[in-house]
Order: sequence, then structure tokens, then C-alpha cells
Amino acid sequence: MRTDTGQTVRLIDYAPTLYRAPRTTLMFALNPTRTVVRNTTTYEPRGSVDGPLTLVGDGLMLLGAELDGRALPQSAYEASPDAFILKSPPNRPFELSLITVISPDENTELMGLYRSNGVYCTQCEAEGFRRITYSYDRPDVLSVYDVFIISDGSGDPVLLSNGNLVETGEMNGAKTALWHDPFPKPTYLFALVAGELGVVTDTFTTMSGRAVDLAIYVEKGKEPRATYAMDALKRSMRWDETRFGREYDLDVFNIVAVSDFNMGAMENKGLNVFNDRYVLADPGLATDTDYAGIETVIAHEYFHNWTGNRITCRDWFQLCLKEGLTVFRDQEFTADVRSRSVKRIEDVRRLRLHQFSEDGGPLRHPVRPNEYAEISNLYTTTVYEKGAEVIRMLHTLIGEAAFRRGMDTYFARYDGTAATIEDFIACFELSDPSAFMRWYLEAGTPTVAVEEAFADGAYRLTLTQKPFMGAALKPIPVRLALMGGGGAHDLTRAKIEGASLKGDRLVLGETATITLDGLNEAPVASVFRAFSAPVHVERSADPERDFQLLERDDDPFNIWDAAQRRGLDALRADYDGVGFDAERLARALAALASDPAHEPAFRAFILQLPTRHMLVEAIGNDVDAEKVDAAHKALSAALGNAMMATLEAIHDKPAPAPDDVSPEAAGRRSLRNAALALLTAAGNADRATEQAASATNMTDRLAALAALAAANAPTADDALARFHDDFESEPLVLDKYFALQASRSDGKALDRTKGLMDHPRFSLKNPNRTRSLIGAFAQNTAAFHAADGSGYRFLADIALKLDAANPQVAARLLTLFSEYRRFDTPRREAAYAALNGVLEQAKSSDVGDIVRRLLKA
Ligand code: TRP
Ligand code: ZN
Repeated sequence: MRTDTGQTVRLIDYAPTLYRAPRTTLMFALNPTRTVVRNTTTYEPRGSVDGPLTLVGDGLMLLGAELDGRALPQSAYEASPDAFILKSPPNRPFELSLITVISPDENTELMGLYRSNGVYCTQCEAEGFRRITYSYDRPDVLSVYDVFIISDGSGDPVLLSNGNLVETGEMNGAKTALWHDPFPKPTYLFALVAGELGVVTDTFTTMSGRAVDLAIYVEKGKEPRATYAMDALKRSMRWDETRFGREYDLDVFNIVAVSDFNMGAMENKGLNVFNDRYVLADPGLATDTDYAGIETVIAHEYFHNWTGNRITCRDWFQLCLKEGLTVFRDQEFTADVRSRSVKRIEDVRRLRLHQFSEDGGPLRHPVRPNEYAEISNLYTTTVYEKGAEVIRMLHTLIGEAAFRRGMDTYFARYDGTAATIEDFIACFELSDPSAFMRWYLEAGTPTVAVEEAFADGAYRLTLTQKPFMGAALKPIPVRLALMGGGGAHDLTRAKIEGASLKGDRLVLGETATITLDGLNEAPVASVFRAFSAPVHVERSADPERDFQLLERDDDPFNIWDAAQRRGLDALRADYDGVGFDAERLARALAALASDPAHEPAFRAFILQLPTRHMLVEAIGNDVDAEKVDAAHKALSAALGNAMMATLEAIHDKPAPAPDDVSPEAAGRRSLRNAALALLTAAGNADRATEQAASATNMTDRLAALAALAAANAPTADDALARFHDDFESEPLVLDKYFALQASRSDGKALDRTKGLMDHPRFSLKNPNRTRSLIGAFAQNTAAFHAADGSGYRFLADIALKLDAANPQVAARLLTLFSEYRRFDTPRREAAYAALNGVLEQAKSSDVGDIVRRLLKA
């Protein structure tokens, strides 16, 4: 039963609790349908003011209540499934014991205590703890936990919780374990795992010489697949020491992989719980992208130990305090251990694809929102990825040394506490912190207009900030270079008005001009190098300037960006039915793609066209999805044809060894496979057919299949059928099969997707499976945005089916509607009708909140 009401919560209403809860002792007697939880918490009044102690629950059943060890009379409290109120607590510290009973097997929401493949596990962020026992369940109440676990008596389970293991034992044939976590933490970081699991172990010696026992628990038999995750963990631990001076603090660090999980992973203190797709890998089963994802998520959750756990959030409005900062940290880790420029391109591509459209659409909200109706819906790309961009701007504005000083101050000042964004920002040496705070407080992506003029040897660059509807001016860090024929001009010679230049950086307020004279040729401006700020750039369309940048620029991000602009222009031209010079674009792309001075992973990006979604965004309104799809196919084929010889030469290079998953090998694979995709799109399917049949490396195999499917090659069906038969019993590979099938654009994706819902291994109960099939379908532009509304109705039906069982997953799927207003009238109206249908029947606050926002004018 779900009992929360979904009422709007506001930041301005924040007030501390009346009581502290310094100690918590939890006792779990595990049982699949009747787990008994005894929660003994010490409460103490914060001040002299006393009053009722009001705790929250969610669908709980109370079996008993005691105060200081003595049973409480019914009259002393009020208990309902969603609240426990102790009417008049004593005006001194006291111990409240509450006994509740819960049913892990019936927990389909995957919040609180549930079972995944028979393994008991918990997910408490953001408000799952209240589904286990009554508590304040808010991040500003920190407690030291002792957790005693009694197994359900079956098998030989591992019993895990946060902190350090105190002792294990046995009780009436059931195994027991006692855990103690010395670090005070909020309820959302509590975790418990119990079940039969295989394990991989290792040790890590911290910078001060302490030995930490590391363990990764996975499904029995899959232990060898956890070695890469273990390696990534050790590298993350070392990196946090060297780059941020942060050392691990417990004797053990445990990770558990489960197959039913709503999100990617969870940073519970000392006991991270992961979606198994971010742990398990083998070169025959996982792609290079999967490996990179594992490395990133392992690092992200580990880095939370300091940014999130040792210092947590005062309230959920401050979510970006831990998430934006931790994403920034994991991005920097990847940049340091892989390639900085490739990582930047990947991250910006994702940001523009998801965050920019969120920021410009009905679901937009500030990085630090002022209100929310359902906290689960605040785990957004704006909080995470724009949150990381804001930290990155802070870093760009003050530089690495001052950034590190600020971080050290933050750790020293707030360790062991629950902090706010203001607390964090005040740790840094910013000239105008309140101006910088606007990045957190206002939604929407600013635009910067860039104008260039050249006359009589004098060049002038003007940058003008145009805030998003009604927002204020923000300090925008601009990294720039003026590229001449022989390289970048010396900017110390330039005259700057409206801003000052430090190195290649200026901070843009309203407007700034840069003039440089005595030139015999107009330079071309490379602005926002490495994407120095999350803004839209408004600049007159000038193909020649882009082609010049492709040749002259020395910032890899901006080279890629110029290539994307050309690609987008070409897509737009096809969409509009006007001509474009595919030969010219092909020549420029081919030159870059075969330039050994660039790393292979970068060259692969050059060969990847902007997505259909980017074209939808660029068109902006009244979009015809079929025409978008056709334009994408046409340009892929045209470029494939025009670059045939270059692409064949790239693909002729031998593939890296199948078991080499190093970033270098991954880069070479992605280049070969980007070439393969264009060749196949041009109707040249032999190579992909052969590669799909012979590759033993999953990256190569999947890339060949994707190329065949995207091109609707005659061999696609057979190749996919064989793939299915080879991997049907590997859940994470079957997910790839489902996603491929749902992504096909041959006019049959909806029927195929519906058909696959009857696949014996499909289940809406498993979030990975649901996302792989339904999520992939909803990102299939032509199929989801079909003019007859069939795609919209399908997604709406699925969301309603999931509404009661797993509202978080249902709500997240529905966010894929967020672009519906960009489409033409029949589509828009069909989407509107489908969403209204959901609103009428939805029960969960998660789905209600998203749909209401999507429908709001
Ligand atoms: N804090 C997790 C992270 O590292 C996010 C998360 C995991 C989460 N599971 C969740 C958020 C369930 C909400 C609900 O980013
Ligand atoms: Zn996180």
C-alpha cells in the first residue's frame, strides 16, 4: 500500500526537527512475507521547546511500541500506516522502540526492503526507509546505527549492513550478524542485504596505510564478471586520494549487485547497492560502453562517501549538493584516467540531448528547486548533469588550485553535518557568490549571441548574454581563442571591453567585446572551448566558418561541435527539402576521421551524425517525425556513399583483440564501427553481416547488428534472431536485444515491441527489461511519435500498468513524453489525449506529478 499524499513541499518551509535521533538500533527478523523490524531510537529534544514526536511511515503495520523499555499504552500514541505520533514525549532523552512488520516479497516498488532473485536488499533514498519503520526519514537527522540481522533460516546467506561487522552468530538454526556504523548518517543511507551470493574480494591500502577489505557480491557463478568493477573501485579510491586528498574511512567496503533496481546504483555508507548492469562485465557479453559505464558508476558511488555521506544534504532541495558535485568528480576521474577531450564530448552530447530539452520543456526546474510534489521525480538530468556543469564553471572561474582549497574548506567545515548549497558556495573564493548562486536558482538555458566583424585589418568579437525568459544575468565563463591561418592569435594583444581576460578565460556579464587589429585576414573565433558554460550559442549560420574551424581549431570539443553543426544543417536541409553539399561535408569529415593526429575515439565521434532528437530540437515546432527519420536515413546514406573509400579503409584496419577492453582498444573499435554504420546505411551491408556473424567481442557484434537494423538490411532479421538464440539466457544481453528491436525504424517497431512483451523472459517487474524494451521504443522517433498516436497510447497504457506496481519507473518512462509539444498538430493532440488518460487513472503521486507538469500550459 502506498500512503504518501504527494503534497507540494517547499524550501521556504524548512525547519529543523524538534528532536535529534543520535542512536538507532535496528533488529531484523527476516522472512519473505513477514519480516519483523524492531527499531529502537534514542530521541532527545533539540531545545527547550517540546511537543509531540511525529514520525513518518509508508504502508506500515505497528505491532508494538515501548518507551524506555516499557510498553506504551494505546492512548500515548497514534499509529497509522503513514505516521506514528508520540503525543507527549518526556522532556529529556528517551528511547522509543517500535515494532513493525513488512512483506519484502510483495514489495514491487523496489523501495524499502524487497527481494531480488531471492536476495533481500534495501533502497532507502529518497524516502524508502519509511517503508521499513517509522522515523523522521529526512536527511538532516543523523544517527549512529547498530543493525542486528537474523536470517530467514534458509540456506547460507551473507548478512550485510553499513559500517563494520561486529560479530556473526546463530539463533535457532538461523544465521545472525551485528553491524555497527560509527559515522552518523541519515536514514536514506541505511542498507541491508541478505542472501546467497558469490563474492570477489581484494584489499586496498589507504594513503595513511590502513588496510580496507573490499568485497563485491554477485549472483553465484558470476564472480569472474566482477573483476573489472573491483579494478575500477581500487582506481577510484586511489584517485580520490591523489586528486582530492580524500581517504576511505571504514575497515570494509562492500558492493552488492542486484538485478531488480530502480536506478543505477546507491551509495549507502560502506554498502553500495548496484544495478547489476553496472557491475557485471565480460568482453563477450558487455560492450565498451558498458565497461565505461561500470567504471563511472563505481567511481560515482564511491566518491559519494565524501560528497554525500560524510557531508550530506540538509533537505532534498539540496540534492545537487551531493549529485552535481559527485557527477563532476566522476567526470574528472574519467577525464584523468581515460581521455579528457573524448569524455567532454560525451558529456556535452548527453547534456544537450537530455538536459537542454528538459530545461526548455515543461519539466524544467532550477538545479536547486524551490518546491516539489514528489521527491523521486527530482532525480533529473538537471540536478545531476547541469549540477555538474555548475561545479565545472566554478572550477573554471577560480582555477584548479583555488577549487581544491575550497573543497578542502568544505570538507573541514561541514564533515559530519547536513549542508546547503549556500554553505558549499561560501567555501570558495568567488568575487560575487550571490551572482554565481543564480545558476542554482533559475531554470532555463541562457543564450549567448556571438557576432564577428572584420574591416581594415581590425577584428571585433562581441558576446552578448540573453537570459532565459525572465531570468537574471549570470556570470558565464567563456574560454576562447581567435584562430588564424597559422594558429591561435596572442590574446594579450587584444583590447577587451566589458570583461577582463585571464589566460584564455573571460567572465561574461551582459556584453563584452574583444578587438584585435593589424591583421591581414579575419580570424575565426573558437568560443566556449571545451564547452566552458552550459549555454546555447547564437551565431549567424556560416558554413565557411565551420569548415574553417574544422581545419584550424585546436580544441577537440569545438572541432566536433563544428562538425555537428554542419551535420545538423545538412539534416535540416533534407528535412526542408532544400539542397545541400553532401560532398563538401563528406570531404571535411573524411579528412578528420582519417587524421592520425586525432585519437580514434574522437574520430569516431566525427563520424556520428547528430541524433534525430537533435534535429527535432533544432526544428523546434510542428515537427513531422517521419520526415525527421527520413532525413536521418538519407544523410547517413549520402555520407556513407560519399566517404565510401575512407570508411572502408578505416574498417579494413584489424579489430582490437576481443578481450582487450582498454580505452585505446575501445576507441579503435568505436571508430571502425562508426565507419561500419555509415557503410551499411549506404546499402553496403556485407561487412556488417559478416561482423555480426563472426565477432566474439560484444561491442563489435552489437555494433554490426545495430548497423544492420538501422539500415533495414535484408540480413537484419536473421542476424537478430541468431543473436537472440545465442544470448537468450543472459539477461543483460537480452536487454540489448530488446532495445535493438524496439529501436528499429522500419515501420513495424510498435507491433514488434508489443510482440516482445509476450516474450517468456520479458517482465514489467524488472526495471532493466522495461527500460530496454519500452524505454527504447519511446526513444524511437518515428515509432513513438507516429502520426496516428499509436506510440503515445502504447506508452500511456504501459505507464498505467506500472503505476501501482512501480510508480518510479512508470514516472520516468513518462518523461519521454516531454518533447510532445514540438510536434505537429495531430501528434500534439494525440499525446495530449494520451496523457490526459493517464492523469484520470493514475494513482501514484509519482505519475500524477509528472503528467500534471507535462500537461501544464
Ligand atoms: N543516489 C543515487 C546516485 O548515486 C541515486 C539513486 C539510487 C536513487 N537509487 C535511487 C534515487 C532510488 C532515487 C530513488 O545517484
Ligand atoms: Zn549520485
